[in-house]
Amino acid sequence: MNTVVYPGSFDPVTMGHYDIIERSSRIFDEVYVCILNNSGKKTPLFSHEERVNMLEDVVRGFGNVKIKQYNGLLVDFAKENNINVIVRGLRGITDFDSELQMAQGNHMVSPDIETVFMATDPRYSFISSTMVREFLSYGRSVKGFVPDAIIPFIEAKVKNNQ
Ligand code: PNS
Repeated sequence: MNTVVYPGSFDPVTMGHYDIIERSSRIFDEVYVCILNNSGKKTPLFSHEERVNMLEDVVRGFGNVKIKQYNGLLVDFAKENNINVIVRGLRGITDFDSELQMAQGNHMVSPDIETVFMATDPRYSFISSTMVREFLSYGRSVKGFVPDAIIPFIEAKVKNNQ
C-alpha cells in the first residue's frame, strides 16, 4: 500500500490544502491528512475537533482519504501508521526555506521517511489560513478561499464569536 501523510495546522482548511489533498489522492493509494500542532502558531481559531469535522466534510467524496489529529511529532505519527512519505505544498519561494528546513530536520531524525513537495496550483498560491482568519476577523466572506462545504460552519462560528 502506497500511503502518504499530508500534515498541517488546517486552521482552517483552504482551497490550496484541498487541491493538494485531491491531487495526492490520485497519486497515492491512501492519504492521511493529519492535523498537528505548529509551535509557532499559538492560538488557533478552530479547535482540533472543529478542524477534524471541517476536513471530514471536505473529503467526503474521496474514498482513500482519512482525517487524523495527533499531539506529537509528525515523524512519530508517520511511524505509528507505517507511512514513509510526507507531502507538503509549496506556494512559492517564501515557503521554501522553512519547508526545506522541516523536511531536512525530519529526515535527520527519521531517514527512512521522505518528504515530497507538490507545487501549489497558481490559482491558490496567495491563499493561507492566516489570510482567511484575517478576513474572517473583519467579517468578510471567505468564499473562494476555502471549500464551499465549510462556509456555513465558518460563518456561524464567526457570528457566535461576535
Ligand atoms: O500548516 P502548517 O502550520 O504549516 O503545518 C506545520 C506542521 C503542523 C506540519 C509542523 O509544525 C509539524 O510537523 N508539527 C508537528 C511537530 C513536529 O513534528 N515538529 C518537527 C518538524 S518542524
